[in-house]
Amino acid sequence: MKTSRKKLSKNLNIGLLLCLFFVQATIFAQNVSGEKSCVDCHKRTVKKDILHGPVASDCTVCHVPNGKQHPIEDEEGFTLLEEGAKLCFSCHEEEQKTISNNKYVHKPVARGECSECHEVHSSNDSKLIFSNSPDLCYFCHDKIETAISKSAFTHSVASEEGGCITCHSPHSSSEKKILVAKEKTLCLDCHDKTIEKDGRKITNINKLIAESKVQHPALDDGCSVCHNPHASENKFLLNIAYPTGNYAPGTEENYDLCFGCHDTDLLLLETTKYATQFRDGERNLHYLHVNKKQKGRTCVNCHSVHGSSREHLIPETVKFGGWNMPLKFKPFDDGGSCASGCHKEERYTR
Ligand code: HEC
Ligand code: HEC
Ligand code: HEC
Ligand code: HEC
Ligand code: HEC
Ligand code: HEC
Ligand code: HEC
Ligand code: HEC
Ligand code: HEC
Ligand code: HEC
Repeated sequence: MKTSRKKLSKNLNIGLLLCLFFVQATIFAQNVSGEKSCVDCHKRTVKKDILHGPVASDCTVCHVPNGKQHPIEDEEGFTLLEEGAKLCFSCHEEEQKTISNNKYVHKPVARGECSECHEVHSSNDSKLIFSNSPDLCYFCHDKIETAISKSAFTHSVASEEGGCITCHSPHSSSEKKILVAKEKTLCLDCHDKTIEKDGRKITNINKLIAESKVQHPALDDGCSVCHNPHASENKFLLNIAYPTGNYAPGTEENYDLCFGCHDTDLLLLETTKYATQFRDGERNLHYLHVNKKQKGRTCVNCHSVHGSSREHLIPETVKFGGWNMPLKFKPFDDGGSCASGCHKEERYTR
């Protein structure tokens, strides 16, 4: 693999040299001021390895001579064919079509600031960009740069070379936040396998969801309602800290992640007729289990947040230290019952 790559790259290099030779020859033949060609005086424009198509053939497709002597101080011998993006779109019709057909357009693109990201004449990158992402993007998105460099947890896909454009289109998209695909699809396309990280195994969420009889409706809104796609101060890149051990103080703040959508009454009312279905008569069993000063049972003891094979997002087993503790939950029309390592079978009736 390595040798054939090397060979290929050698052949490419020879090709490139030949190419450059012809390119230079054409440009040098283009006389303006006496014997001199444009690049005799403007070497900088063709200094980098990869020349922009038209630069390689003819400077005057874009810089149209306007009859004034060139170069003479304080005189401009050329007029640009078009200004801003119009110039670019005069040749890149496909790109223009795509951008104008898309609902979401990146601000600098909409403003026609193509040369904020692209070199016009020559570049070290085949797409003529000044630098690869994330650096290219950090130039304007310094808040995201700070978040990624300073946060306790980073999504490595965002910080690695070329990272930003694995999820975002640099120009436009039919998806919000100029994402390259529907958010849920985008995330699940990578999380369709177990990922090893620091000797830890990250669950295959795609498989988990696909095999779930019940999916959390929160997933309909994508994944970023709960996860930050770039970086976070919280484990699992969560937007808000959420206790994932077996015990935590049963305060409202501890479960803000859930209470963004669910009503706090399910946790706060000791007795209720409406706030939860998890009650025995009017006795709120969420309150009973979770709402304790120190050793409140966390939601993860009874719910699998992405999806599960059973009603109410209740999993078959729950992690208790190193033990996968079975949870024998049975739903009934007027309640349910549960037996586990925590207690023998207990039944609740509403
Ligand atoms: C694809 C269109 C295009 C082609 C082809 C092109 N240029 Fe330009 N050039 C531009 C644009 C756009 C600017 C920026 C003008 C501005 O900022 O107002 C520019 C700016 C310049 C400038 C002034 C600023 C600078 O970068 O030094 C020079 C000199 C220049 N071009 C020379 C050349 C030469 C020489 C060639 C051929 C080797 C060439 N250009 C080919 C589009 C082009
Ligand atoms: C004898 C040297 C020389 C040659 C040949 C030359 N230029 Fe220039 N050009 C200059 C100088 C000097 C300036 C003014 C300083 C600067 O902007 O670099 C200039 C400025 C420019 C500018 C910016 C100002 C303007 O006029 O719009 C463009 C664009 C440009 N040249 C394009 C070209 C193109 C295209 C050619 C070939 C068709 C060419 N030049 C040939 C020396 C030259
Ligand atoms: C006179 C026609 C013309 C103009 C004007 C023009 N381009 Fe190009 N551009 C080309 C050609 C030809 C190529 C090389 C062929 C290709 O790769 O599609 C190219 C290639 C590119 C590429 C690399 C494409 C790739 O697929 O690798 C980028 C990026 C690009 N141009 C951006 C711009 C921007 C930005 C502008 C405006 C400042 C612009 N172009 C103006 C003709 C033009
Ligand atoms: C925010 C930065 C940014 C701006 C602004 C921007 N581009 Fe790009 N452009 C990129 C990046 C990054 C790529 C490379 C995408 C890739 O590698 O998949 C690219 C790719 C391209 C290509 C190659 C197309 C392809 O599919 O490979 C063209 C042509 C192009 N841009 C033209 C333009 C034009 C015209 C404008 C202005 C209307 C513009 N760009 C504005 C960042 C930008
Ligand atoms: C020249 C400056 C500039 C560069 C470079 C730039 N952006 Fe932006 N970007 C903006 C501006 C301005 C906005 C609009 C911000 C606002 O409205 O608050 C924006 C918005 C966005 C948004 C939000 C879009 C939305 O619909 O809310 C995303 C995502 C984004 N940029 C990604 C990127 C990526 C990825 C790159 C690198 C390929 C990049 N940006 C490079 C200026 C830039
Ligand atoms: C794993 C996919 C992914 C990667 C990689 C990624 N993003 Fe995002 N980005 C998203 C999603 C999803 C959103 C929408 C989040 C939301 O709506 O809360 C987003 C939102 C944004 C926004 C808009 C922020 C706002 O508050 O509206 C910007 C700007 C942005 N991203 C820039 C970047 C930059 C710069 C990079 C590279 C450093 C990057 N993104 C890498 C998925 C990603
Ligand atoms: C290009 C592949 C790719 C995409 C797209 C992607 N991820 Fe990831 N994700 C990874 C990899 C690889 C890791 C593990 C390495 C790391 O980031 O530290 C990871 C880690 C994570 C973690 C941390 C898990 C842990 O236990 O620490 C979460 C949460 C996550 N991704 C959510 C998302 C979300 C939400 C999206 C969509 C916005 C998404 N991912 C899109 C590849 C991807
Ligand atoms: C309602 C909030 C919520 C939504 C929506 C959500 N997650 Fe999660 N995610 C969590 C919580 C909480 C955890 C950590 C505890 C757990 O796994 O139960 C987590 C953990 C993860 C992990 C790490 C699992 C591990 O084993 O380390 C990944 C990867 C992940 N989620 C990806 C996704 C993807 C992809 C989506 C969208 C399809 C998504 N999440 C939607 C709340 C959510
Ligand atoms: C983005 C909004 C959103 C967030 C955030 C959210 N949920 Fe949900 N959840 C829903 C919706 C919508 C439903 C379906 C309607 C209902 O049962 O309330 C639901 C249903 C549920 C159900 C199943 C109800 C049943 O009987 O089938 C459980 C359990 C649940 N959520 C737990 C959680 C937990 C735990 C968290 C915090 C980690 C959380 N939710 C965060 C929106 C959300
Ligand atoms: C001891 C187990 C247990 C714990 C701990 C637990 N739940 Fe539940 N939860 C249940 C059961 C069982 C149901 C199903 C009740 C029914 O419909 O019969 C349920 C139902 C739900 C529902 C559906 C609406 C309702 O209240 O009936 C939501 C939302 C919910 N739980 C959220 C949470 C959140 C958020 C946490 C953590 C703060 C949590 N649960 C902790 C067992 C638990």
